[in-house]
Amino acid sequence: MARRSQGIIITDKYQMRTWARSMRHNSIALVPTMGFLHDGHLSLIQEAHNHAQLVVVSIYVNPSQFAPSEDLSTYPSDFDADIRKLMTVPGGVDVIFHPHNLYDYGVESAMDCAGMANVSCLEESGSGHETWVRVERLEKGMCGRSRPVFFRGVATVVAKLFNIVDPDVALFGKKDYQQWRIIDRMVRDLDFPVKIVGFEIVRDADGLAMSSRNVRLSPIERQKALSINRSLSKAKSAAEQGELNCKSLKNLVVDEIQEAGGELDYAEIVEQKSLEAVEEIKSPVVILIAVWFGKVRLIDNIEINI
Ligand code: PAF
Repeated sequence: MARRSQGIIITDKYQMRTWARSMRHNSIALVPTMGFLHDGHLSLIQEAHNHAQLVVVSIYVNPSQFAPSEDLSTYPSDFDADIRKLMTVPGGVDVIFHPHNLYDYGVESAMDCAGMANVSCLEESGSGHETWVRVERLEKGMCGRSRPVFFRGVATVVAKLFNIVDPDVALFGKKDYQQWRIIDRMVRDLDFPVKIVGFEIVRDADGLAMSSRNVRLSPIERQKALSINRSLSKAKSAAEQGELNCKSLKNLVVDEIQEAGGELDYAEIVEQKSLEAVEEIKSPVVILIAVWFGKVRLIDNIEINI
């Protein structure tokens, strides 16, 4: 356990649990992250202070939510810079949980993945982990369609973090809208005693939603990626002015992004809680999109509360 001027760094999951148990008389907020922190994370962490007495931030790039074909190996990370950034958050953090043994269960034989469909980097590495949390309907569409192991890995690692840290509240950014809804449903369905807080998207001054992956955009791609927020805002204004047909609204988004050179993975208009696709807006919806600019896949969304 290394001590810092603000908070402590815990790298062992058993020590993390011991700390959490010793703090039981306080309320704990958990902010799960994969590191490479940006101002969006820092706002989320600052918000955590409004929900609990103690704040734990986990930094862990989770191999079980990446397929071997995805960007685990190039996912940006800079732990020292993360620590420096965390020190700038008003109120600081109480624990930085940076586990080295999250999926380490002692003596394990490597799993034979031959012939298995939809295997993550975790199984490929031979960890022996084979228990998964699946939120079956909510994980099916959108990001779940293009990334078949993603939500299974997210729900499972978040369940593990909840079991280790035992937080009263956990905060998630609404940029990962489907993820937030899935975690919320998991908590309800499995009776985790954790309140889930969804936090508004934090954007750069030019409108691009903050994401650790933004650093991998070239300056030209970054410029082009501004079409994402522009198109979403246009569709929202059109809906507010009475255009309630989802096909027309989707076309507005798709045209603007394609004109800028983005390659759309999906653009969907869905009901906010059930994430069911709608054809005509009659209740609060959200437009969810995933777009490739070069080798970078960005996601974003906008809620429409009509
Ligand atoms: O949103 C993220 O950064 C990750 O998916 C999460 C929730 C930390 C799980 O690894």
